[in-house]
Amino acid sequence: MNEMTSVSQETSAKTPALPDAQTVTDVKHWTDRLFSFRMTRPASMRFRSGEFVMIGLMGEVNEKTGKAKPLLRAYSIASPSWDEELEFYSIKVQDGPLTSRLQHIKVGDEVIMRPKPVGTLVHDALLPGKRIWFFATGTGFAPFASLLREPQTYEDYDEIIITHTCREAGELTYGRELIEGLQQDELLNEVIGDGFWKKIKYYPTTTREQSPKMGRITDLMRSGEAFDELGVEPLNPESDRAMICGNLAFNLELKEMFEEYGLEEGANSKPAHYVVEKAFLD
Ligand SMILES: Cc1cc2nc3c(=O)[nH]c(=O)nc-3n(C[C@H](O)[C@H](O)[C@H](O)COP(=O)(O)OP(=O)(O)OC[C@H]3O[C@@H](n4cnc5c(N)ncnc54)[C@H](O)[C@@H]3O)c2cc1C
Ligand SMILES: NC(=O)c1ccc[n+]([C@@H]2O[C@H](COP(=O)([O-])OP(=O)(O)OC[C@H]3O[C@@H](n4cnc5c(N)ncnc54)[C@H](OP(=O)(O)O)[C@@H]3O)[C@@H](O)[C@H]2O)c1
Repeated sequence: MNEMTSVSQETSAKTPALPDAQTVTDVKHWTDRLFSFRMTRPASMRFRSGEFVMIGLMGEVNEKTGKAKPLLRAYSIASPSWDEELEFYSIKVQDGPLTSRLQHIKVGDEVIMRPKPVGTLVHDALLPGKRIWFFATGTGFAPFASLLREPQTYEDYDEIIITHTCREAGELTYGRELIEGLQQDELLNEVIGDGFWKKIKYYPTTTREQSPKMGRITDLMRSGEAFDELGVEPLNPESDRAMICGNLAFNLELKEMFEEYGLEEGANSKPAHYVVEKAFLD
């Protein structure tokens, strides 16, 4: 999985010049709209796989005050809690205040991070179950990139189903390579248990470009096609747990379907059957 090369000792040892700054150790571009990067992790930083943090770059200098403020955005941590570095999976919005610049970062550059992880896509927010579903659209795959490499996912569940719906086939590559890479990853097989990846069922679909499976996951579930192809029954509160991370309409549509299945939404303070987080704000 770690096909990304590591930064040299010299670069990682560099003293950060910005407050809360971390040093970029790797950057990989997946499409003209998607990239991932890795950076150093503060030694004191703890987080639960699936959580998000605020990251960003220094903003422009304000003409009146002569000062610059950090320009921060919420980002799911894509690496698991045990990884010595942090990984992020990002969109490139051409006129986006942050990502119009962030997409140009290089190894050795600094990224600001407020080391206060939060979020609802955590195992603690779910009651025990047999099977866990991860439902993602677009960059909503990021928290699941973390949870798919988290030993607890395999300790807690017999079966892990990950669905990823994107417009175009190329937008599935980061997730597909990560999942395929789990099989060969010696460290993960050792940490999690030999052959842990056999518990995973991966269901990628596209909506606007031809691929082996076309359609929105919501439609494929309503028609029963997704369940037939996965060889499982529709979700039920006794055995199934789920995490959702996508655009707002997707999240709302799935929530409505889950309520029909009898699943209840959970939170850190009140674990239940499923949890939801937005992949971006609108
Ligand atoms: C809890 C949470 C977790 C997030 N995690 C991630 C993450 O792991 N990776 C990531 O790339 N973004 C993530 N985001 C979105 C992120 O915070 C920013 O919106 C994004 O980086 C774009 O920043 P920007 O300043 O360039 O543009 P913004 O002004 O923030 O956004 C401009 C427009 O771009 C679109 N947009 C923004 N983010 C996305 C996206 N991820 N996918 C598709 N369209 C988008 C929206 O239409 C938005 O109105 C997350 C948001 C939230 C609320
Ligand atoms: N992806 C691109 O190629 C592209 C290019 C330029 C600009 N943009 C802009 O970037 C923003 C985000 O695009 P994005 O593609 O990353 O994210 P997105 O619009 O959230 O779409 C991601 C995937 O989710 C599906 N989806 C959307 N609503 C759904 C629902 N209610 N239920 C089930 N599935 C649903 C989409 O299917 P549908 O295709 O059926 O909607 C698509 O396959 C948009 O504002 C878009 O205009 C995207």
